[in-house]
Amino acid sequence: MLQDIQNVLYSEEQIHAIVADLGAQISRDYAGKNPLLVSILKGSVVFMADLMRAITIPCEIDFMATSSYGADVKTSGVVKLIKDLDRSIEGRHLIIVEDILDSGMTLSYIMEMLETRDPADIRICTLFDKPSRRQVNVHAAYAGIEVPDEFIVGYGLDYNEKYRNLPFIGVLKPEIYG
Ligand code: IMP
Ligand code: MG
Repeated sequence: MLQDIQNVLYSEEQIHAIVADLGAQISRDYAGKNPLLVSILKGSVVFMADLMRAITIPCEIDFMATSSYGADVKTSGVVKLIKDLDRSIEGRHLIIVEDILDSGMTLSYIMEMLETRDPADIRICTLFDKPSRRQVNVHAAYAGIEVPDEFIVGYGLDYNEKYRNLPFIGVLKPEIYG
């Protein structure tokens, strides 16, 4: 696995400091609101697990799964709902927890769908943001780190379902997907 990584972009320690900061911001902003954290499977599970423990106020969690990438490094533009939320979100304060905001297609599809269910409000919390690749207008209220236009893996992020279990964020060698 390690031989496929060109370089380490963020260490475990660097990621944890950023996640702690996001958790503190959310704890302040949502005090008394019992927010519902919605993790977008599967890429955001590692981030979700750390973020929820960095939040010091009561909150609940749920999961959703979509697919658009398959075995590719860029979006197909077609987003498919694979798993829906378990419970109603009417009147709830939603925080969508995403690993990386790239073209924005996935999150704009999810936001549009969830808004029809009358939540109190919806905000996005993404660990990584690649603003240079945005195709649709999606804004993350909480964004951990801006990353350059390189394909990154680890800490939940995959290439063709691999590398999610790396504890750090690395840049994949282009020959792996090229
Ligand atoms: P978007 O719909 O283009 O914004 O894509 C968001 C999804 O694409 C993320 O949830 C990731 O699963 C995947 N993705 C985008 N960029 C990367 C990357 O650099 N590494 C791994 N997955 C990525
Ligand atoms: Mg993915």
